This record gives sequence, structure tokens and C-alpha cells, in this order.
Amino acid sequence: MLKDYVIITGAYGGLGKALSLVYAKEGFGLILLGRKKKKLQELENELSKISEIESVVCDVSNWKSCQKAYIQIMDMGVKIKALINNAGITYIQNFDTNYKIDKYQELINTNLNGVVYLTQLFIDVLIKNKGSIITISSVIGYAPVIGRTAYAASKFGLEGFFSVLGAEQDDKLHIMMAYPTFIQTQIRDNSNLSVKKYEVLTADQVANKIFDAYSKKKSKVYIGKTAKLSYYLYKYLPNFYVNLMRKKVNNKI
Ligand SMILES: NC(=O)c1ccc[n+]([C@@H]2O[C@H](COP(=O)([O-])OP(=O)(O)OC[C@H]3O[C@@H](n4cnc5c(N)ncnc54)[C@H](OP(=O)(O)O)[C@@H]3O)[C@@H](O)[C@H]2O)c1
Repeated sequence: MLKDYVIITGAYGGLGKALSLVYAKEGFGLILLGRKKKKLQELENELSKISEIESVVCDVSNWKSCQKAYIQIMDMGVKIKALINNAGITYIQNFDTNYKIDKYQELINTNLNGVVYLTQLFIDVLIKNKGSIITISSVIGYAPVIGRTAYAASKFGLEGFFSVLGAEQDDKLHIMMAYPTFIQTQIRDNSNLSVKKYEVLTADQVANKIFDAYSKKKSKVYIGKTAKLSYYLYKYLPNFYVNLMRKKVNNKI
């Protein structure tokens, strides 16, 4: 029987690496995607002790780069069972005249368009293999947090995109959205964010929850107390949620 392979974008990032490790340990082959060849190679070497690993350079924000990666992956002749849309960036800045439109564009191209590109390229093969598309969203995929207009536009955008795709495909394709609360990863270090006062999960904790939900073929998984509480508060008491969030959050978290 052919081994099942999982494609993971942003594979050597904080959550990407943790997900790669979990799926490799669970017996999946991996196709690691990322922009930096050296980092991909290092991770490939590390995980090769556990499973069969391939890596492909891919800038998800670039359609041509995604098409090139698709051809390389299809040439491998492996059975692709899941696409994990994990690569993502953030830009934290209240929306005003100082807001940088080039940063907004880069974020939308990465977090939203990149997911759409890879989903389109692999949709047929995933349907054929009764596969899954797992997309890493955020609390900011369903509830507002100040300073994150671009990030919210990307993650809310994914919500809309996959809700329609799910309705179109019905049970032909397993689509799962993961909504983790804060995770201690590079995305946070890059933005000089301090979340000491708040619930922060490790990438390993989040990756294990995602794998568990994937195994159970869930369509949504809320990871961490903050994710669950924010969901209910914003849904049933939106004004209360917004006032509380404004008090708790500033551009340093
Ligand atoms: N950390 C959190 O608190 C948190 C909470 C909820 C959801 N999330 C989501 O979790 C996912 C993973 O983020 P993380 O926290 O693990 O951040 P991270 O450590 O910064 O990892 C992000 C990864 O994405 C890659 N990437 C960025 N732009 C790319 C592009 N254009 N093409 C290909 N790869 C690209 C980065 O690689 P390069 O080195 O090439 O930039 C890096 O490997 C993201 O979707 C994020 O929105 C994070």
C-alpha cells in the first residue's frame, strides 16, 4: 500500500515544525514547503530519521512559485492525503495614515492568496485520495483584536473561502479550520510581542490538538481557553467582548 503524504507549508516555522514532527511520528510521509532551501534541508535531515521526507522551495504568496512546487510534487508520484496551510505572517499596526499598504499586500498574498493558490492546485488530487485540507486560522479568524486589520482580513477571508468550498464539495473533501490562541513561535518574536500576562501555548501542544482533531475528521478545532472563551463571548455578547479586548490588548501583545 502507498504511504500517505502530507504537504506542510511554512514547515520550519514554530508551528510548522511541530506539525511536521507529529505527522512524521504518526507514520505519514512529509512534503515540507518553505522559502529557504537551507532551513528546509536541515528539517528534512532531522525528520528523515523518523519518516520519508521530501522538501520543495515554495513562496506561497507567489502563484508561479506554487505552480512550480505543484509540478515538482506531482512528479514525486506519492499519495497526497493532506494539505496543511500553515505558512503565515503578521503585521501589527492600528489602521491610520501610517499604515503600510505594502505590508498589508504582503500579508494578504501570504495568508489568504497563498492558501487559495495551493488549494486550487491540489484540490483534485485531494478529492481523489479522500484527503483533507487543514488551515491554520486564529482567534482573529472569528473575533476582532485591535491592531490586526490585515491579519483579520486574511483569516476572516479564509473563513469565507472555506465555508463556500465546503458547501460546494460537501463530503467529497474533508476541510478543517484550526483556531489556536497565542503560540510561542517566531511570529511573536518577529513582532516583539510580549504575551507574558496571557495564555500562551507551546507549538507542540497546538500540533498535537490539531492532529487529534484531524484524526477525528473534525471541521473546526478551537485550541486553548482564550480561543473558546473568545468564540462564545463574541458570538453572544459582542459589545462586552470588544470592550474587554480593548482593555486587555494593546499593540504590545
Ligand atoms: N504564533 C501565534 O500566536 C499564532 C496564533 C494563532 C495562529 N497562528 C498561525 O499559525 C501559523 C504558523 O505561524 P507560527 O506562529 O508558527 O509563525 P512562524 O514561527 O513565524 O512560522 C511561519 C512560517 O511561515 C513561513 N512563511 C512566511 N511567509 C511565507 C511565504 N510567503 N511562503 C512560504 N512560507 C512562508 C515562514 O518562513 P520564512 O522563514 O520563509 O519566513 C515560517 O516558516 C500562521 O498561519 C499563523 O497565522 C499563530
